[in-house]
Amino acid sequence: MRVLWVPLGNRSYPIYIGSNLSPELGKAWRENLPPGRLLLVSDEQVFPLHGEKLLLTLKEAGCQVVRELLPSGETGKTLQYAEQLYTSAIRAGLDRHSAVVALGGGVVGDLAGFVAATYLRGVPFVQVPTTLLAQVDSSVGGKVAVNHPLGKNLIGSFYQPRLVWIDLAVLETLPAREYLAGAAEVIKYGIILSEQFCTFLEDNWQLFLDREPEVLTEVIATCCALKSRIVSADEREEGVRAILNFGHTLGHALEAATDFNFYLHGEAVLAGMLMATKIAEASGVLPPTEAQRQLSLYRRLGVLAAPPGLDEEKLFAALRQDKKRQGERLVFVLPRRCGEVELFRDVSLELVRQVVREYLSQEGKPVCYTKAE
Ligand SMILES: NC(=O)c1ccc[n+]([C@@H]2O[C@H](COP(=O)([O-])OP(=O)(O)OC[C@H]3O[C@@H](n4cnc5c(N)ncnc54)[C@H](O)[C@@H]3O)[C@@H](O)[C@H]2O)c1
Ligand SMILES: [Zn+2]
Repeated sequence: MRVLWVPLGNRSYPIYIGSNLSPELGKAWRENLPPGRLLLVSDEQVFPLHGEKLLLTLKEAGCQVVRELLPSGETGKTLQYAEQLYTSAIRAGLDRHSAVVALGGGVVGDLAGFVAATYLRGVPFVQVPTTLLAQVDSSVGGKVAVNHPLGKNLIGSFYQPRLVWIDLAVLETLPAREYLAGAAEVIKYGIILSEQFCTFLEDNWQLFLDREPEVLTEVIATCCALKSRIVSADEREEGVRAILNFGHTLGHALEAATDFNFYLHGEAVLAGMLMATKIAEASGVLPPTEAQRQLSLYRRLGVLAAPPGLDEEKLFAALRQDKKRQGERLVFVLPRRCGEVELFRDVSLELVRQVVREYLSQEGKPVCYTKAE
């Protein structure tokens, strides 16, 4: 088992990483949290697979568990479901010391974290992430949110967990398409922060795809360490944390232009990274050899082609609504080489249009664009 710390003063917290960790959770719980009543939040797909084991461990650690299950997928991430969780917490008499535990992917983590941040003005929060995306990204860093009918993640806060518990064994049941979508965020960490990690991924690619435990542990630990470095330098995204949005400007626009029902988040981000790399190369900030290296990493994963008929204007309208935009200027995180990116505040709209058109014109072509089952 590996233990990393996210250094945030008196809100610092440990991330435990390993395989089949449950016997050790009891000890970790006692070291970091009080026993007592807790609210366990999961979803209808994850709980039947991994819930009983966690329940047993929590009970052995002296906790009494109240359980709430959400529907699987993005539909659960709403204020209505948050209210359902508050009701359940109030009825069960959970107090300021009672924890909220999230067992699931980013949806469960974001919603349960939002509830933990707001119930009684904040109660202890524990993340037990079960998707690759949640293990390398969403469970660390403290962004919690619910969706609003007018947009994703519009209602939220920064609220750090007390403990993140990453058990690789849960990934065995994760569908391949979800795994590959999470892998896009893994590549992101290499490109934005670590050339050495890019090399590690290139050298161990097949083992990573095969979910080989040692390689997977290294990958997850590296991503968590890189993310925690950024989060502790800029918890509330007032500066350097913005680089974590590499690939997300166009990625979000693709998700919005397809009404969030075509791409998985990581798939859209991968297409967004591909376009950001091309924008950087065309702007002269990224040397061609570095661009080739990045593109070949993306191709290993298989960038998904846009759906036929995706409306370019809808995509640009979504780009203008990006909540990270600054005025009318297009703000992009662009790579300078593998392991280094920079925020550019005045990217030419014309250049972005060209690169977007090139991506959209690949529609339906399976060249480097494949959709995993
Ligand atoms: N807070 C952050 O910093 C942050 C960062 C990135 C993404 N997010 C949010 O995360 C969400 C996406 O998260 P996600 O990709 O984990 O999606 P998700 O939570 O919807 O999980 C994906 C699917 O996999 C299933 N699943 C989860 N774990 C499983 C397992 N071990 N075995 C079998 N099935 C399993 C789920 O039931 C769901 O159907 C979005 O709402 C996004 O906004 C948040
Ligand atoms: Zn993301």
